Amino acid sequence: RKAPAGERVADWADGRLGIYSLAKANMRKIFPDHWSFMLGEVALYSFIIIILTGVYLTLFFHPSMNEVEYHGSYVPMQGVLMSEAYASTLDISFDVRGGLLIRQIHHWAALIFLAAMMVHMMRVFFTGAFRKPREINWLFGFLLFVLGMFTGFTGYSLPDDLLSGTGVRFMQGAILSVPVVGTYLSMFLFGGEFPGGDIVARFYSIHILLLPGIMLGLLVAHLILVFYHKHTQFAGPGRTNKNVVGMPLLPIYMAKAGGFFFLVFGIIAIISAIATINPIWALGPYRPDQVSTNAQPDWYMGFSEGLIRVMPGWEVNLWGHTLVLGVFIPLVIFPLVLASIAVYPFIESWVTGDKREHHILDRPRNAPTRTAFGVAWLTWYFVLLVGGGNDLWATHFHLSINAITWFVRIFFFAGPVLAFIITKRICMGLQRRDRDKVLHGRESGIIKRLPHGEFVEVHEPLTQEALHTLTSHYQYTPAEVGPTVDENGVERKVSRIERLRARLSKAYYGRDNQVAKPTVEEYKEITSGHGHH
Ligand code: HEM
Ligand code: HEM
Repeated sequence: RKAPAGERVADWADGRLGIYSLAKANMRKIFPDHWSFMLGEVALYSFIIIILTGVYLTLFFHPSMNEVEYHGSYVPMQGVLMSEAYASTLDISFDVRGGLLIRQIHHWAALIFLAAMMVHMMRVFFTGAFRKPREINWLFGFLLFVLGMFTGFTGYSLPDDLLSGTGVRFMQGAILSVPVVGTYLSMFLFGGEFPGGDIVARFYSIHILLLPGIMLGLLVAHLILVFYHKHTQFAGPGRTNKNVVGMPLLPIYMAKAGGFFFLVFGIIAIISAIATINPIWALGPYRPDQVSTNAQPDWYMGFSEGLIRVMPGWEVNLWGHTLVLGVFIPLVIFPLVLASIAVYPFIESWVTGDKREHHILDRPRNAPTRTAFGVAWLTWYFVLLVGGGNDLWATHFHLSINAITWFVRIFFFAGPVLAFIITKRICMGLQRRDRDKVLHGRESGIIKRLPHGEFVEVHEPLTQEALHTLTSHYQYTPAEVGPTVDENGVERKVSRIERLRARLSKAYYGRDNQVAKPTVEEYKEITSGHGHH
C-alpha cells in the first residue's frame, strides 16, 4: 500500500528539515489563558497587517522630490506643482484600485500597532512579568516600541504633504539645536539647505527596509524568548512557579490565535473604510514657507511635541554662537522619558535585591511602589501629550492656550508625584479589602434582621479558588545592609551606596507597602463562629 500523498510530502520534508521532532516538542506547548495576554497578539497582528499593506503601497509610491505638475483625477489640484512623492500618494488615494483603503489600513494599523504595544507593555509592567528571566525580552520589546515610533514617523513623512513637511521641519529644528554639529547634521541629512532634495528618498529606505527589517528580527527573537521562557501566569489553584496551566498550542491556541488575527484585521479594515485618516489632498503639497493649521503628529509622537510646545523659548548667546535651550532641553529629555522604561527592571531588581526567577505574576495592588511608578510615568506621558495638542484643547474646550501651557508646565513636575502618592494609597486600600474578604467573606448584599433588632449583612464564604488568588502572593522583606563586622570581628566600612540601597528597598517593600496577610490563626478564629455573620 502506498502512503497517502500528504504523508509522503510530510515524510519528504521531515527527512530534510526534521519537522517531526520539532513539532513533537512544541505542538503541545501549554499557553495559559488570560484576556490581557492577547494584547501582545494585537501588536503582532497589526504589525503583519502593516507589512502586507506596506508592500502594496511600495508598488505605487514614488519616493522622489522631483517637481511635477499634477494631472490626476482630483480636480481641485489640477496643474498644481508638487513633488512626485505627493503626486503618487494622491494617485494611490484617487486612481489606484483599492489604494485609498489600503493606505488607510496601513495608517490605522500603525496607530493601533503603537497603542497595542503600549498597553501590552503596561500589562507586562504592572504584573511584574519583566522580572528574571524576562529582562532581555523586556529590552527587545522596548526597542520594538522605540523603533515602531520612528518607523511611524518616517512613514507619515513620506507623502510630502503640508502636514508631514511641518513634522519634518520640527525634527530639523531639533537637529539644528544640537551644539556644534547641529548645522552639519542637518545639511548632511537633508542633502543641503532644508528641505533639500533627498529626505523623502532617505526616509523611504529607512521606512520600508531598515527599520522594519530590524523590527522583524527583534520580533522573532521576542517570540522565541516567550516560547523558551514559557509564558507567565496569574496565581491560581495548581499553578506554581514551576509549571504552566493552560491550553496546548495545537490545536486550541492556534485556532484561537488564527481567528483572532482575522478579527483584528476585520476591525482595522472597518475603521479604515469608514474613518478618514490623514486626508493629504485637503492639506496640499509641502512648501517650507507655509504651515498647516492644527498641525499634529500621530499620537505616539505627541509627547515629544508637548516637550517643545511647553518649553520657554530660552536662548543663550556665547562668543557669537547661539544655544537654543528651548529646543535642545526637550531634545535631551525626550530619550530620557523613553530610557526610563528600558532600565526599570534592572533598577527594581537592584533596589529590592531580588535575584530569583518569577513565573507567577503579581497583582498590581500587591506591588504598590512599582504600580505607583508605572502610573506616575503614564501621567508624565499624558501630561506631555496634552501639551502636544494644546491648540486642540484650547479650541475644543474654549480654554486659553497659555493656561494649558502653564497647566502642563506645572503638572510635568507635580503630576507624577501626585499620581505616585495616590496610586500607592489606592493599592493599600485594595490590599485591605482583600484581607477583609479573606477573613469575613464576600459581601452578599443580603441584609438580615436579628431577633433583637440588629441589622447585619450576610457575608458568603469565598470559593477555594478566590481564597487562593487573594492569599497566594509572596510578601517580600526589604534588602538590608550586610553585617558590619566580618568573620574576624574586624569592622567593615559600609558604603554609601549600600545604605542608599537598603533605604530604597525599605521604601519598596517596607511595612507601608504591605497589609499583613491574614494568618491561619486569625482565619480560624473568625470562621469558627466568633464575629462571623
Ligand atoms: C510577551 C508580542 C512588544 C515585553 C509577548 C507575547 C506576544 C508578544 C505575542 C506573548 C503573549 C502576551 O503576553 O501578550 C509582542 C509584539 C510586540 C511586542 C508583536 C511589538 C512588535 C513588546 C514591548 C514590551 C514587551 C514594547 C515591553 C517593553 C514582553 C514581555 C513578554 C512579552 C516581557 C513576556 C511576558 C510573559 O511571559 O508574561 N509579546 N510584544 N513586548 N512581551 Fe511582547
Ligand atoms: C507610509 C507607518 C512599515 C511602506 C506610512 C504611513 C505611516 C506608516 C503612518 C503614512 C501613511 C499615509 O497616511 O499616507 C508604518 C509603520 C510601519 C510601517 C508604523 C512598521 C512598524 C512599512 C513597511 C512598508 C511600508 C514594512 C513596505 C514594505 C510604506 C509606504 C508608504 C508608507 C510605501 C508611503 C505611501 C503612503 O503614504 O501612503 N507608513 N509603516 N511601511 N509606508 Fe509604512
